[in-house]
Amino acid sequence: MTTTPETCPICGGTGWQTIERGKEREVVRCECRVKDRGERLLAAARIPARYEHCELSNFQYDSADKRLKSVIEARTFAGRFVEEYPVDKTGLLFVGTVGVGKTHLAVGIIKDLIREKGIHCLFCDYRELLKSIQNSYSPSVQATEMEILRPVFESEVLVIDELGAVRSTEWVFDTVNYLLNSRYNDNQTTIITTNFPDGEETDAEINNLRSPSEAERAARRETLGDRIGERMRSRLHEMCKKVEIEGPDFRQHSKQAQFQRMSAPNRLSLRNSKREP
Ligand SMILES: Nc1ncnc2c1ncn2[C@@H]1O[C@H](COP(=O)(O)OP(=O)(O)OP(=O)(O)O)[C@@H](O)[C@H]1O
Ligand SMILES: [Mg+2]
Ligand SMILES: [Zn+2]
Repeated sequence: MTTTPETCPICGGTGWQTIERGKEREVVRCECRVKDRGERLLAAARIPARYEHCELSNFQYDSADKRLKSVIEARTFAGRFVEEYPVDKTGLLFVGTVGVGKTHLAVGIIKDLIREKGIHCLFCDYRELLKSIQNSYSPSVQATEMEILRPVFESEVLVIDELGAVRSTEWVFDTVNYLLNSRYNDNQTTIITTNFPDGEETDAEINNLRSPSEAERAARRETLGDRIGERMRSRLHEMCKKVEIEGPDFRQHSKQAQFQRMSAPNRLSLRNSKREP
């Protein structure tokens, strides 16, 4: 039998329970409502189906594999972040190449925050967000810019996945500026993932006191600063702790492992047929 709020033996359906804390008594939300709230929050977090399987608890690694040092550290960081929130509300900036598990960790974090702490979280794909804001300018689209941005501004913990994935224009700079500054001013937590290296400006750029030209940018790998603007990049450093992840692409890696497992019997029979020791 499942316990619905109406039949809850703890609160008798009121949704509140009194607990003793030393000499103090405290009235808190009953568990039955917290569970309910958890489910509602999980739905409201809009985690895309393709990341639904991501949990901190199923993030795998071989702790003996030296190449995974930063991957393991990132997993530790993620766990600590959940434990320390909201005492420490500094966000996280996951920087790394393709498939190292940045989005997996970000999703794992918000799921745990929702389940363990009842925090209001939202997942947001940077590219899709900018696209829907842009669409909202079209007269044929119902939603206004503010309607799209309200949940983004209001969620206590926001994931922005793939920051920088849209080619930089003045409009993109302005929009990111608006978004990040609003969250910064409201002291809200933002978790970011990005593929773009968070490089410092080159000496030449600093000495010239100007933005790199298109040609200069093309000559080196584009950085996060190029994509969201140098000012926003430094704002990000005030809002987030940087977590750099270097490692193999998990998608390739696990495919390879699968292949090796699949072909193992074949290799074995081949060996047997050759009667090797
Ligand atoms: N350590 C891991 N344990 C289990 N699954 C993992 C791990 N790392 C990555 N994955 C899985 O591999 C896939 C790719 O990971 P993810 O999307 O998190 O990578 P990413 O760093 O965000 O890559 P991209 O830069 O392409 O966005 C996902 O399905 C994810 O669940
Ligand atoms: Mg990702
Ligand atoms: Zn109850």
